[in-house]
Amino acid sequence: MWIRRDIIAIIESPLNWYGGKGSNSQRKVLNSILDKIEKSQKRVMVDVFGGSGIVALNCIQEIIVYNDKFEGLYHFFKVLRDRSTNEDLIRRLQLTPYCQQEYIYCRNEWKNQTDPVEKARCFYVATLQSYNALGSMNAKKTWRRSKNPNDCRRGMSQNVSAWLNKIDEVIPDIIEKLRTFQITNDDALDCIDYWDSSDTVFYVDPPYVMNTRGSKNMYEIEYSDTEHSNLINKLIHVKGSAIVSGYDSQLYEPLLQMPWEKEIISSVTKMAGAKRIKINKGEEIIWYKF
Ligand SMILES: C[S@@+](CC[C@H](N)C(=O)[O-])C[C@H]1O[C@@H](n2cnc3c(N)ncnc32)[C@H](O)[C@@H]1O
Repeated sequence: MWIRRDIIAIIESPLNWYGGKGSNSQRKVLNSILDKIEKSQKRVMVDVFGGSGIVALNCIQEIIVYNDKFEGLYHFFKVLRDRSTNEDLIRRLQLTPYCQQEYIYCRNEWKNQTDPVEKARCFYVATLQSYNALGSMNAKKTWRRSKNPNDCRRGMSQNVSAWLNKIDEVIPDIIEKLRTFQITNDDALDCIDYWDSSDTVFYVDPPYVMNTRGSKNMYEIEYSDTEHSNLINKLIHVKGSAIVSGYDSQLYEPLLQMPWEKEIISSVTKMAGAKRIKINKGEEIIWYKF
């Protein structure tokens, strides 16, 4: 059955994430990925580089696997899916101030927390209250603040509004869906090895190849050119279906052979800063095989 994605509401993720497919500027890309996952007609969906979880959250397969090697993400989703911890996490987030000192404390200390809920809380503050709320963990990026009265939402600064909306609306909305997930913290290649079968569709969205992007130091866990090549070599042999997204790169040339197909999603645009100038970003490519 063909689904008109443009008229279906997307389930939001509690996280924004660098390179994530949850922003408005990435909606065309997200719709195309979700359509291909559905067209594969597979019953097991594995989001190998899960990030914000936006793709997994909008899938309808019976078996959904969210994987990310970054401990902060994996831990946050684990605490959120578990009934014994999620209410406590939401309550603590509701009591957390939107505050620069709190942000600095959380960014410096989240890894050292021994209480799982406090660790998830600190990780979330360090991500959502960060510059652009993208959780880059880049020490040069600072607390997200706004002094522009034209950027207000719901009668308050837009960054505070977005923070409250995520805690009060988005997080509670996804918990039931999240409880159906299997969550893993594996390296991508191990993840693919384990879950590969003729019933599986993989969604593969690694960090962009380094020489195709402007910002170099965005993730805690980066991906070298050798890792990209090993990933592609693994993918051309999988039994299941696979959908890969990224910017065009020579490293991805093996995906130009049959049965792989390539789709270019053009005109990804982004609003730039307070001046609201539209800038064209690189074209997003989707390589896929059913
Ligand atoms: C481009 S982001 C994924 C964005 C995600 N698709 C979304 O829409 O939010 C890439 C992710 O890969 C993760 N990652 C990096 N190296 C990895 C590895 N070797 N295995 C699994 N995940 C890895 C990073 O932690 C990061 O969250």
